[in-house]
Amino acid sequence: MRRTMTTDKPHAPRREQTTTSGHRFGVPERVERVEEKGVRLTESIKRQFHREVPLLALRLPAPLIGRFKADPRIKPALLVSKNLRSVEPDPTSDDGAHKLLLLNTPHKDEVPDETLKVVQEQHVDLVETRLELTWDYWMADEIIARLLPQHLTHIPASFTIIGHIAHFNLRDDFLPYKYLIGQVVLEKNPAIKTVVNKVDTINTQFRFFQMELLAGEPNYMVTLWQSGSRYRFDFSKVYYNPRLSTEHDELSTKVQKNEVVVDGFAGVGPFALRVAKNRGGRVMASDLNPAAVEALATNVRLNKLADRVDVSCGDGRLKIRDAVLRLWRNPPFDSPHIPLLPDHFIINLPDSAISFLDSFIGLYHPLQLDNGFLDAVHAKNRGPLLHCYCFTKHVDHPEPDICQRVSAVMETDISRTTAGRFELKFVRAVAPHKDMYRLTFELPLELLLRPASAPSAAVVPAA
Ligand SMILES: C[S@@+](CC[C@H](N)C(=O)[O-])C[C@H]1O[C@@H](n2cnc3c(N)ncnc32)[C@H](O)[C@@H]1O
Repeated sequence: MRRTMTTDKPHAPRREQTTTSGHRFGVPERVERVEEKGVRLTESIKRQFHREVPLLALRLPAPLIGRFKADPRIKPALLVSKNLRSVEPDPTSDDGAHKLLLLNTPHKDEVPDETLKVVQEQHVDLVETRLELTWDYWMADEIIARLLPQHLTHIPASFTIIGHIAHFNLRDDFLPYKYLIGQVVLEKNPAIKTVVNKVDTINTQFRFFQMELLAGEPNYMVTLWQSGSRYRFDFSKVYYNPRLSTEHDELSTKVQKNEVVVDGFAGVGPFALRVAKNRGGRVMASDLNPAAVEALATNVRLNKLADRVDVSCGDGRLKIRDAVLRLWRNPPFDSPHIPLLPDHFIINLPDSAISFLDSFIGLYHPLQLDNGFLDAVHAKNRGPLLHCYCFTKHVDHPEPDICQRVSAVMETDISRTTAGRFELKFVRAVAPHKDMYRLTFELPLELLLRPASAPSAAVVPAA
């Protein structure tokens, strides 16, 4: 999940607003902006957010409140706000016999005429009152916008929620206030127990983020639900990106019941679990990161999918070859309905996925003398689908760039016109001039059966 925080323009005149959720009162003007770097949230900062708002109210006998609240001539004048009550105790009524029904203005001339008419006809007291607002009333983005120096107009944008963790990627100019930001977000979101900020370096091999604790508990073991499956993993040791969940969902729908998927870069299992649980497929899932494999095995167990997902640890290039041999010679799935030839390969390591594609050249060659293998391949009459994620800097013309790099490594012309079931799908923009795509196409049987060239360390032009 992703939360976005926005702020008002810095010099916008203070006006109480009406929003879709009703009335919204502004943060007190007198709150002092923090100038000091490294400042943390204190009780004295919170106390500054106390504000009294003058309002008019109808003073009514308690049993009549409901009737007046529902009256269409009164309704337009009432205070409506998602997190405020429109009925308050009457401070002058010791026995609670009267209550105050709050209006949305302190000015009588702003109360609609038809409301005033009812007040007059029914001899209701129209009284002045004061609504007390405290720190609890304002939202995190309103508080942060008010506390940070005025030149920081666009609040650190968004954070991602992973289980109980809020994950920021703060811009440099917000770093002096990172602990304050973290503490406000922690206080304002009861489900969040840990707030972290991405540190510049990323573990390049296993793709997880180095992170700094900004607020809350140093507990990175998260449990979450996504698309019907339960996940548990240590977010400080593995890759997990909830922004890819739509893509995880979409790709899994391409798998039909009882089809076999080889996912050699499986992480904690977002494809594997969806395919096995939601699509009735089988998955040979592996990853090079032992922490990801441990979590993957846990997640398979948590979701009772041990008979549908085969888990192992190792390099994707070797695992792709190993999966094909095992599936034919020693299948891990105990069902006569499961094919002995793979139906899909997923390579989700966008930075370098294309450099792994030479693994497919001659992938079936070692099996061609196995009894019945070639017959099975030809009976199937079509190759497995490859789903390869990659980056491109050619954001305006991605297809020629991606196809050219893939074709070079696979020593085969791969394009919309030459490859079967071809699809090039934009996944997301990762930087201003860098997009992520999924290339899907049918692996040509000729390429799979071709004798493999010498084990290649193919050089791929960088995206
Ligand atoms: C971008 S993540 C994707 C993980 C998962 N498929 C997902 O969508 O969340 C790439 C994964 O590839 C793994 N990885 C990196 N190099 C690898 C290699 N040579 N062989 C197998 N897995 C590798 C990383 O540990 C990481 O879990």
